Amino acid sequence: MDKKLIVANWKSHKNEAESIAFLKELSLVLGQVSQKYEIVVLPQYTALAGVKKYIQENDLSVSVGVQTVSSFGDGAYTGEVSARHASEFAKYALLNHSERRKYNRETDEDLNRKIEQCKTSGIIPMVCIQDETSFVPDGSGFIVYEPPSAISTFGIGKPETAQNIERVLGALKGRTSARVLYGGSVTSNNISRYLLIESLSGFLLGAASLEVSSFAKLLKKW
Ligand code: PGA
Repeated sequence: MDKKLIVANWKSHKNEAESIAFLKELSLVLGQVSQKYEIVVLPQYTALAGVKKYIQENDLSVSVGVQTVSSFGDGAYTGEVSARHASEFAKYALLNHSERRKYNRETDEDLNRKIEQCKTSGIIPMVCIQDETSFVPDGSGFIVYEPPSAISTFGIGKPETAQNIERVLGALKGRTSARVLYGGSVTSNNISRYLLIESLSGFLLGAASLEVSSFAKLLKKW
């Protein structure tokens, strides 16, 4: 059986030292990481190299992803980080997060271009969708169903019901073969009800991934 993914979206919160301190504390608290899930951390770009090095040197079973990639390849694109450069550190790229759509005006067209960049660079895209009518591009490795209203710091912070998640999983079935994660206000208090949804392949966490205490508490619900 495929491992479920637990994705820690650290947004613009942790610098390199803070990211590494988190991993150090987590490895002490968790001991041996469970074989049931794969932990993926999404640090800021400035912390990527340090985080990757720390994971390798300490032989942690934690994967690394980026929070976005450029829709362009290498070249004269000031301020952008291309997927090829991200792929030096990252196995995954989160794409189309609602915050990117809101604050950076990203569109479905941008998403398509980013998917192409990920494909040529060997990065697995994790594509956020806002509801079951959202555009689902070909080539998505994972889909993250994350209604904006469920994001703790963005919408009204209302976690989606298990029933609605199952409805969306059903609606996506004919449209994509990608595995589906759920994101939005997942905490140690509500994860048990989501774990009952067998076809759900994991979770995207924001707030609950910022402190080792809340993150480890949630992992221990497995
Ligand atoms: P949240 O954030 O878990 O704090 O709701 C999720 C996200 O924005 O990806």
